[in-house]
Amino acid sequence: MSRQVTLCARSVSVPAGLIGLVYTAPAFRARGFAAACVQACVEDLRAGGAWLAGLWSDKPAFYAKLGFLPAGRETFLGVDPAACAEALVGLGVPPGAVETGPVAAGDFRALEALYASREVRAERAPGELARHAASVETELQVARLAGRPVAYAALGRGDDFRGVVHDWAGSAEGVLACLEALARPRGGVAWLIGPEPHPAVTALRALGAPLQHSPFALVRLLAAGRLWQTLVSEHPDLDATVLQQVGASFTLRGALGEVEFDAREALDLLFAGHAPNAVSTALDETQRAALLDVLPWPLYLWGFDSI
Ligand SMILES: CC(C)(COP(=O)(O)OP(=O)(O)OC[C@H]1O[C@@H](n2cnc3c(N)ncnc32)[C@H](O)[C@@H]1OP(=O)(O)O)[C@@H](O)C(=O)NCCC(=O)NCCS
Repeated sequence: MSRQVTLCARSVSVPAGLIGLVYTAPAFRARGFAAACVQACVEDLRAGGAWLAGLWSDKPAFYAKLGFLPAGRETFLGVDPAACAEALVGLGVPPGAVETGPVAAGDFRALEALYASREVRAERAPGELARHAASVETELQVARLAGRPVAYAALGRGDDFRGVVHDWAGSAEGVLACLEALARPRGGVAWLIGPEPHPAVTALRALGAPLQHSPFALVRLLAAGRLWQTLVSEHPDLDATVLQQVGASFTLRGALGEVEFDAREALDLLFAGHAPNAVSTALDETQRAALLDVLPWPLYLWGFDSI
């Protein structure tokens, strides 16, 4: 199955598609069925206007044949409940000032507003967060100051997010209080911290919480030219640059000429900030300096938005 999603970051919106639930019954394997289904999903997403397609899988070799390669980065922080309590004290929050508890029906408008204020996010329809939070696999904690929701954090969703806090937003003290409430009965949790700096992350890092990085998803670029044009549109020094995609081949044109590279290098350029060496043969110094302002673009989805 596939679905369209709009990724938002740095005042840019990127139409994208997600693919999931790929399965072939054992008796019918190795006949090209899964490859054909994935390719059909890609064509649907392309027809729907997606500039890239993403998925999550423990079979990267199968998806590499279909043009999907690891891209972006996700980071987990190991969260200890005592460290949350210490971080709250460090922020000058008196014990008990932030109350935590399960979500109430009347909270969702405020929680949706907290999510919408994130710098990096996917567009969500009203009611989506409530629908996800209702899952038996998920525990959602809300932090309140003077009765008003100031943060939320959700733990658990499917196999991938068992024991993981994957969707959260709000103030540092609210997020830390939610994390403490989720971590205390379990002795600790993994926290998917996302690409934006956040004071709750800084506070726990200062107390020695360990980080673990992995690629964000398997990604196939479908319309890299449109994506490039949109990402660089904010920067006048990049007006004259063009990225063209023909299948799995990419050509970057700049002030000094043209350079070709492959999908691996294109993904690294866009989402990891590692420009292929050859880029300096196409872009002049001014264009290369400008590139640092717009790339890497933070390719990311919070836990409830993944497929
Ligand atoms: C992975 C799975 C979907 C493959 O289904 P399938 O119908 O047998 O795959 P296809 O016949 O379309 O294979 C297409 C190509 O991928 C290769 N391939 C299949 N499974 C692979 C694997 N696990 N690792 C590497 N390559 C694989 C095939 O050899 C074939 O290569 P070819 O084009 O060079 O001949 C199937 O094994 C499955 O349902 N597994 C359990 C569920 C799962 O893991 N889903 C994917 C995770 S989201």
